[in-house]
Order: sequence, then C-alpha cells, then structure tokens
Amino acid sequence: MPSPLSPAAVDALRALTPGAQSTTHFNHAGASLPSSATLEAMRAHLWREATMGPMEAGIAGREQSERARLLAARLLNARPAEIALTSGNSAGWGRAFAALGPWRSGERILVGRHEWGGNLAAMRLSAQRAGATIEVIPSDSSGAVDPQALEAMLDDRVRLIALTWLPANGGLINPAAAIGQVARRHGIPYFIDAAQAVGQLPVDVAEVGCDVLTGPCRKALRGPRGTGLLYVREDFLSRLTPAFVDIRSAPLGADGEPVLRDDAVRFEAAEAAPALHCGLANALEEALEIGVENIRAQIDSVAQALRGQLAEIPGVTVLDQGRERSGLVAFNIAGLEAASVQRSLADQGISIGSNGVPYTPLDMESRGLKQIARASVSYLTTETEIGRLLDGIRKLATQ
Ligand SMILES: Cc1ncc(COP(=O)(O)O)c(C=O)c1O
Repeated sequence: MPSPLSPAAVDALRALTPGAQSTTHFNHAGASLPSSATLEAMRAHLWREATMGPMEAGIAGREQSERARLLAARLLNARPAEIALTSGNSAGWGRAFAALGPWRSGERILVGRHEWGGNLAAMRLSAQRAGATIEVIPSDSSGAVDPQALEAMLDDRVRLIALTWLPANGGLINPAAAIGQVARRHGIPYFIDAAQAVGQLPVDVAEVGCDVLTGPCRKALRGPRGTGLLYVREDFLSRLTPAFVDIRSAPLGADGEPVLRDDAVRFEAAEAAPALHCGLANALEEALEIGVENIRAQIDSVAQALRGQLAEIPGVTVLDQGRERSGLVAFNIAGLEAASVQRSLADQGISIGSNGVPYTPLDMESRGLKQIARASVSYLTTETEIGRLLDGIRKLATQ
C-alpha cells in the first residue's frame, strides 16, 4: 500500500542532497536536485576518463548505460530492448515522430489541449508541408482530455494520437490509460509525452497502452540534465524508420548495406555521455528504491497542502485544473507578471518557474492565459519550505 514518506525519511533523503541545504527549490518540474550519490557516480566516471583515457574508460561507461537501460525498463514496466537512452524529452519524442515517415494530405493528428509546444512545433512543420491537419481533442468539464470525445472524432485518416500526460503549465493529470484504450481499440499509433510523469507517477506502459512514451530524467527522477528515455513498444518498432542513422543505430554489414538495429537502440547516437548515464543509473536506482508509488503519495500530499494554503492568500489565483492532480501548482498574483514573481522570489533564494504561452499554447490560449507562475514540489519538499514560499508570495501579493 503506497504511503507518504515519514518526515524522518524525507530528512534523510534531504541530507543526501546538497541542493536541499543551499536553496529553496520549487522548480522540480524544470529540473530537480540530484543526490550526492548521483553526483559521485558522474564524478567517478569523469575521473576514469581523465586517468585512463575517455575511450579506454568506455567499457565501464557502457556497463552503466546498460544498467540505466535495465532500470528504466523496470521503472516503466517495459523490456530493456524497448528503451533508448536520449538527451531529453524532445530528443526522443522528435526522433520517434520523424520516424513515422512523410505525411500525406488529408491525414489527421489528434492532440490533447495540453500538448507540449515543442511537440506541436515538430508536428506542425511536417503536417503543414504535407497538407495534414492537427486537431484538438475536446476536454471534459474538469479540463482533462475526454476519451469519449476522442472516440467520436476517429476515422481512417487519423494516423496519430498525441497526449501530454501531465501538462507543463499546471496540476492536471490526463487520463492516459483511458485514451490508450481508445487508441488500441482502433489500432491508431499513440504517443505519450510523459516528461512530467516519469518518476512522479507510477508509469506502466502496458497499462497506458502507448506505442511511444518519452521522458527527460532531470525532473522528478532527479537524474542529470541532458538525459532522457524513449520507450517504443516492441511490435511498433518496425513501423519506425529513424530520419537519420549512424554507426551505432545502423552499422554497415559485410555487404556494405546499413543494418538497422532491431531494438530501440536504433534511436540512439553512437557518441553519448557515459558520465551522465552513470548518474542516471544511480538516480533510477534511488527512485526504484523509494518506490514511485510512495513518491506519488508524498508529492500528492505536499502539493495538496501547498495548493490549499496558496488559494487562501488574497490576490492569488490557483490555476490548476483536473480531478486528479500532480505536483505542479500553477498560480498568478493579481497585477504581477509571472516572470517578475519568479525574479522576486529568486532574490529571496526561492526558485519557482514561470511559463508563457509557447510551452502549452493550445491550453493557454483556450483559457485566455498569457503566463503562469509555477511552484512544483518533490518528495524532498518540506513544510518549512512551503512556509517560506507562502511568506514570499504573501509579501508580493500585498505590495
Ligand atoms: C510536458 C513537457 N514536455 C516536454 C518538455 C521538454 O523537455 P526537454 O527540454 O527535455 O526536451 C517539458 C519540459 O519542461 C515538459 O514539461
């Protein structure tokens, strides 16, 4: 049975996190704070590279990359062969999307209203060139993507359903599994941007029924910047031809012809950063050790406490939608730009995020929002930190 972490457990985890001593961090949705052991795993490999020679240290590096792949597969309930190690969310999502091949006039892409702006940019470039369309699946009264409305839109011209599971601009959680059931029933490829979900929510790729799922590892997983995961369902892999390959993803065979890898490594680059993979393997191990279900329970309890107290401050509007909510808390303070709220809090040693329209353009435009301030929590977040953040916001709201 998942349960929030005890205060003693949170304190112990914080003691092993240098950033928890030096900053008040409410930007875990931007990137979280790595543990000392994750830092040490990276340092140790950089030292191996410096002392043995970077290529000569490669065997140890490769072992850690494969360990990261195994642990990532465990985290997502996937097979290791279904996991590519990437440099971030868009790096995986964009590669998988491009690998669908050219689009044709009249073909349709259906997206949730909360789709990440970078994914939309990639889709628009290809769709516009070909005369394909991108259409928005209606949301229900809570703001979440409506699976029934999706079903009513389907015909044989729909070639992709794309969902951002947890939007970047607030606390909503989309019903990824219910949408997956519709996609599976109709045999339509289904991509999930799980950038904010991986490490924050239990993610079971079989349960959500996706063909492709992506996540960066610097957010809830607390991995190094510049690391990410791309999951491609085994049976779907043969339908994806990478837009470009290299010596690793498609080495030339004896006959001089490229031999495309038959696993997700077809999406990896030959040159990677083994030190980052060493840190990533450690971060994955830590998340699995704590248990993502417990992480979810802890984040939910902390985010609810923050949301409730924030809503009581005069002049503050909490902007989160949805019935089930994540650790991302969006708000605005009357009369203040979100970016200036972010700057003023930063002056007090408190980090939050501030997002404009481009991150989630469809949702921001449909709600008439130009900007949101975003305080995102982690299982490391304490009541003392929440108190500090709320004091800072109270001061700004009464100025
Ligand atoms: C939902 C979502 N998708 C995609 C991204 C982009 O991730 P990356 O910068 O790793 O490409 C983010 C980043 O915040 C995000 O929140």
